[in-house]
Amino acid sequence: MHTVSAILVAAGRGERAGDGAPKQYRPLLGRPVVRWSLDVLARRADRFVAVIDPAHEALFHSAAGDLIDCIQIVHGGATRTQSVRAGLGALSGDEPDLVLIHDAARPGLQDGVIDALLRALDQAPAAAPALPIVDALKRVDGAGRMIEEAQRDGLMRVQTPQAFCYGALVKAYERLPADALVEDDLAVARAAGLDALLIPGDERLMKLTHAADFTILERMLAGSFVSCVGSGFDAHRFGPGDHVMLCGVRIAHERGIIGHSDADVAWHALTDALLGAIGAGDIGVHFPPSDPQWRGADSELFLRRAVELIAEAGGRIAHVDITVIGERPKIGPHREAMRARTAEVLALPINRVSVKATTTEKMGFMGREEGLAAQAVASVELPR
Ligand code: CTP
Ligand code: MG
Repeated sequence: MHTVSAILVAAGRGERAGDGAPKQYRPLLGRPVVRWSLDVLARRADRFVAVIDPAHEALFHSAAGDLIDCIQIVHGGATRTQSVRAGLGALSGDEPDLVLIHDAARPGLQDGVIDALLRALDQAPAAAPALPIVDALKRVDGAGRMIEEAQRDGLMRVQTPQAFCYGALVKAYERLPADALVEDDLAVARAAGLDALLIPGDERLMKLTHAADFTILERMLAGSFVSCVGSGFDAHRFGPGDHVMLCGVRIAHERGIIGHSDADVAWHALTDALLGAIGAGDIGVHFPPSDPQWRGADSELFLRRAVELIAEAGGRIAHVDITVIGERPKIGPHREAMRARTAEVLALPINRVSVKATTTEKMGFMGREEGLAAQAVASVELPR
């Protein structure tokens, strides 16, 4: 198997996109632009370098969320070419076989494009997605006056990610004069005489350049996902102890909860809801209670596994809603801490995580305080 590294260039100013936050940090369908590619590339690459403007450090951290741990951050330069050089430099020392270089400003990255690029590298040291040009082409002067026809035959518009054999691309960049201005990495590779293969591009890989592009791409991407909803329920019996775990928060109580793991009913219900949304069975399938290794386990482990499976399916969590059912302990004083811990593990903004509680008016096992129960609903966007 080849080792694959990814470089995401995100060090631009986004000047053509107008006022406001730099375009790569603005939300697109509720997710920062840069995060879309991070989610895909972090999963597909063995190593991941993000090239950013040092002034955007805080913006990048908040956009990357929990992915930050698997990303190497380097600072970009004044031009895209310099930013790519910085990214390639960060990989030297522990060199990959293959490298994918992608514009953060192209958030509509799909797995299929990466598959095709990596296959193409079996036949050529460079590959890129490209689409045919359908409109007629004219050469014009600065005032918009047409000078002549331009032939579109044999012309393609090229996108990113562009994929290369790492060693060959590094040599190509070394041969490039320091002040050279090039359109993209494929141009650098071709200038060094490398063969390049173009694979079918994807309209969703359009580059966000002007503010109006956001609306166009949002429309295109909205149709690429289907909303799936999963539900989960769990109940555990009270037993000896002095606290209960709910949403990863330790809550002092005159009794504990009996369970094989840490018996966090809220996160167990949530894990089942997340698994349900992607049709991936239930918590017992992934973590059999008969397996001694899960004795006393932190339920965060179960929840993180569900999050991982959703990412592997190319999905993203839109919203979760948890209801804890029981007379005591009272949830109110702990609700915000429970939301915050859950949001942290799911890498969601806090307003996409709801924690509620109810009693059963002293009816049933929860009313008699024999145990605690929880139910959860999770909304997940999955690729069509
Ligand atoms: N880029 C970069 N370093 C630069 C310039 C650009 O890493 N010095 C990145 C951008 O962040 C973007 C990609 O290269 O992801 C493509 O560039 P472009 O669309 O031109 O983005 P910006 O340079 O940010 O936008 P503008 O040219 O409108 O200022
Ligand atoms: Mg630019």
